[in-house]
Amino acid sequence: MAQLEGKVAIITGAASGIGKEIAWRFATEGARVVIADLQSPSAEAAAAEINRAGGTATGVAMDVSDEAAVNAGIATTMERFGRLDILVSNAGIQIVKPIDELPFAEWKKMLAIHLDGAFLTTKACLRHMYQGAGGAIIYIGSVHSKEASLLKAPYVTAKHGLIGLCKVVAKEGAKHGVRANVVCPGYVRTPLVDKQIPEQAKALGISEEEVIHNVMLRETVDGEFTTTGDVAAAALFFAAAQTNALTGQSLIVSHGWFME
Ligand SMILES: NC(=O)c1ccc[n+]([C@@H]2O[C@H](COP(=O)([O-])OP(=O)(O)OC[C@H]3O[C@@H](n4cnc5c(N)ncnc54)[C@H](O)[C@@H]3O)[C@@H](O)[C@H]2O)c1
Repeated sequence: MAQLEGKVAIITGAASGIGKEIAWRFATEGARVVIADLQSPSAEAAAAEINRAGGTATGVAMDVSDEAAVNAGIATTMERFGRLDILVSNAGIQIVKPIDELPFAEWKKMLAIHLDGAFLTTKACLRHMYQGAGGAIIYIGSVHSKEASLLKAPYVTAKHGLIGLCKVVAKEGAKHGVRANVVCPGYVRTPLVDKQIPEQAKALGISEEEVIHNVMLRETVDGEFTTTGDVAAAALFFAAAQTNALTGQSLIVSHGWFME
């Protein structure tokens, strides 16, 4: 039987990259999925692809850092499907700059999307999960939830913070049947990474090839990028877990870049 039969999942930032792949994977496993992203047309286009392939998906416009927009998107999900079992908090951006050149506004924007977004979507979903059959919350962290890199102060700070939030959700949610876990990917070739290759090359004064091989993939065991499929498989593993044995955990999916 499909692993997520009967479940409803909302995935933020699912019009692109990792979130889009997770939505596909969950739909393949029988979940009805809600693609939440900034712009309605791109969210609806990603949902339409799943529907054309025989799955069930709907798109909602949602800026995860806007409380009213988050609550409206969750309300739409409940109206459309009547239940909510899985949240994947995935929406994110990257800004690469050294701390001494980082405008305060950009620091706040990063924390708003990554941390406020995780909090607001968690809070809105928990209300329904507590009243329903419990649920699973999966945060898309990063190797940068465990490790630092040059030029990424707000990203590293926010991604470390997700692990703290996850652990509290795991403790508070347990008696309601809600589990929370973090997936921590290494570098994945999505628009988010493609954009930062030239930016890092410029900031570090090296070529784009050197950024890929000497910065991004240097510590991996095989010099390979992690794939969206690798990350979706880990997200499915947590989404389909049946007991509280797996809660408050973080799983690194990085071709061995970071080992613990
Ligand atoms: N690509 C990587 O190497 C990598 C590695 C580790 C972690 N991650 C994390 O994975 C997640 C997804 O990244 P990706 O690589 O797929 O990037 P991506 O740029 O392909 O997709 C991110 C999506 O998030 C959406 N988004 C941005 N701000 C939003 C907001 N305020 N509200 C709602 N949606 C918003 C974008 O529109 C986009 O569709 C991010 O949290 C990122 O930090 C990525």
